[in-house]
Amino acid sequence: MTGKTLLIVNANIVNEGQITQGDVLVRDGHIERVGFGFTGQQADRIIDARGRHLLPGMIDDQVHFREPGLTHKGDIATESSAAVAGGITSFMDMPNSIPNTTSRTALADKYLAAAGRARANFAFYLGGANDNIDEIRAVRPEQTCGVKVFMGASTGNMLVDDPVTLERIFADCPVLIATHCEDNAVIRANEQRLRAQYGDDVPVAAHPLIRSAEACYQSSSLAVSLARRHDARLHVLHLTTARELELFTPGPVQGKRITAEACVHHLYLDDSRYEDLGNLIKCNPAVKTAADRAALVAALREDRIDVVATDHAPHPLREKEQSYLRAPAGLPLAQHALPLALEHYHDAALSLETVVRKTSHAVADLFGIRDRGYVREGYWADLVLVDLNHGEEVRGDDLLYKVAWSPFEGMRFRSRVVLTLVNGVVAWEDGALTGEVPGRRLECHAAR
Ligand code: DOR
Repeated sequence: MTGKTLLIVNANIVNEGQITQGDVLVRDGHIERVGFGFTGQQADRIIDARGRHLLPGMIDDQVHFREPGLTHKGDIATESSAAVAGGITSFMDMPNSIPNTTSRTALADKYLAAAGRARANFAFYLGGANDNIDEIRAVRPEQTCGVKVFMGASTGNMLVDDPVTLERIFADCPVLIATHCEDNAVIRANEQRLRAQYGDDVPVAAHPLIRSAEACYQSSSLAVSLARRHDARLHVLHLTTARELELFTPGPVQGKRITAEACVHHLYLDDSRYEDLGNLIKCNPAVKTAADRAALVAALREDRIDVVATDHAPHPLREKEQSYLRAPAGLPLAQHALPLALEHYHDAALSLETVVRKTSHAVADLFGIRDRGYVREGYWADLVLVDLNHGEEVRGDDLLYKVAWSPFEGMRFRSRVVLTLVNGVVAWEDGALTGEVPGRRLECHAAR
């Protein structure tokens, strides 16, 4: 056989519930062999990974890379650069760009725009709207990773609040439905109450009281009941509360009709951090209590929550520096995606194998992603080498986001992403981008 080869030797390979010391031979973008004792072999490049862990790259099923139309906040090139630095090798991008991705034409334009500019592999969601049921009905699984439905208003005015439309979407959507669940009526009533108390100076600590646990529960329970009634394939995004967890069942992702996601910031932060981080951590749904956070981590352990994502949602600092009510919701997260997830390993709250399952295996299974998400012979070589013993401080100068800030500046994570391989090509190594842009379109099959 010919082709460019890369040999990784002496790695602690974390894969499919096991950690084994071994070697991986990559040829022409794919994993050719996984085994032991390849040290004497020839290869175009040999990497000695002794002391480091080799993981299948993170597949992030929720990012906002802001293209088209919001490219002052981020674009596919900048944000995918941050992604590979954070151990993300594939991403699925949300439809609240401008124009909203609510037609198959807009969807096709996004794939065109990403070709040759993404450092990680990509897929795009079609957005649900109150008036695009025909587009939803016509979309095919090979065109999208799913239909995103904002059942709560957030950045981008994409709220789907018409009950008849929701019924139709759940009845007829031919692909997976991914929902943002927060009930708008509950949010509005809470906001009115706090405005009555504080006027325009509502403190950011009130964010989880406005975007409350009740708002989450009302909406996610509606989504689950709609999905059950219509036997739809539902994936509820970014759970933030203990109470919602009763809506989901523990167990392996295979065969589940209703699945759930949690995000790295909701798993890492709690409401005590509004005091020091303020609007920087304002996001929708809101960061909630320490008890909620602990319940989310426990739900990952019992496989009640299936996957971990970022919901990377950058906004310029000057916008975040406005008053709480004016500041946009969302924060940049991609560059520290795996180090954030791995904090739970260092806390002995999640095993390494579980972190890998939630960030990679289960995402590939859930979205029917072809030949990715595992360290398996014949699969694409989307691999990440991490150092669990030498972490690093988050420094402003190192940030690759277009918005160039992070809520974690000055903090230290206990793991570091040493090398990221996308389709067998090194995209990130020893703290720097390599200049390679190897991202390809993902082949998903998240059919109904
Ligand atoms: O905090 C958020 N920001 N939540 C969302 O649902 C949207 C996102 C954004 O696009 O800014």
